[in-house]
Amino acid sequence: MTSEVHQTSSTQHPASSKQNIFLIGMMGSWKSTVGKKLAIALDLKFVDTDDEIEEATAQTVADIFDERGEAQFREMETAYFVEKSLQSGYIISTGGGIVVTEANRNALKNNGITIFLKASPETLSHRIKNTDKRPLLHGEDSLMKLSKIWKNRKDFYEASAHITIETDRLNPMQVLEIIIKKLETHNAIH
Ligand code: S3P
Repeated sequence: MTSEVHQTSSTQHPASSKQNIFLIGMMGSWKSTVGKKLAIALDLKFVDTDDEIEEATAQTVADIFDERGEAQFREMETAYFVEKSLQSGYIISTGGGIVVTEANRNALKNNGITIFLKASPETLSHRIKNTDKRPLLHGEDSLMKLSKIWKNRKDFYEASAHITIETDRLNPMQVLEIIIKKLETHNAIH
């Protein structure tokens, strides 16, 4: 697939290690926004699971949900993510539902450092303007839908994360700075 972003440099940032970094969190948690900035800061390659699936199928995620159903999307998501998680030097921004599948949770735990970008459903619904892209939020009352999804997934996000960042009161640059500091500490300890 061709949408990978490759950075090149010879020195390694202290927050970087050979391990992959996975970003998890609900829709609108800034996984891709922050992930792209983090890839530049740490000189790692960036991929987004939704973008890769869209490119491989030549369909949008919304169309895949419509035409093939969520279960088939989840199979494609797992096939892509688990395989990619075994490579090294990647920042992988995952779809919000990655944690519902056990194989993905195992990969998140074992194949890299997983960062959970936590935000309340209220914050997420303010951040998400274009719900057309997100089939699970189609229709009325995205806050109610986000609250229900959050309730079902909260424990999975928490159990899968090595590092959790509360983002409600932060902007993406502040989230980035905190991640870099936490990774430096994490790498110094592990
Ligand atoms: C989903 C989140 C989306 C996308 C799909 C399903 C989910 O990704 O994978 O619409 O189940 O939470 P983002 O979290 O990047 O919006």
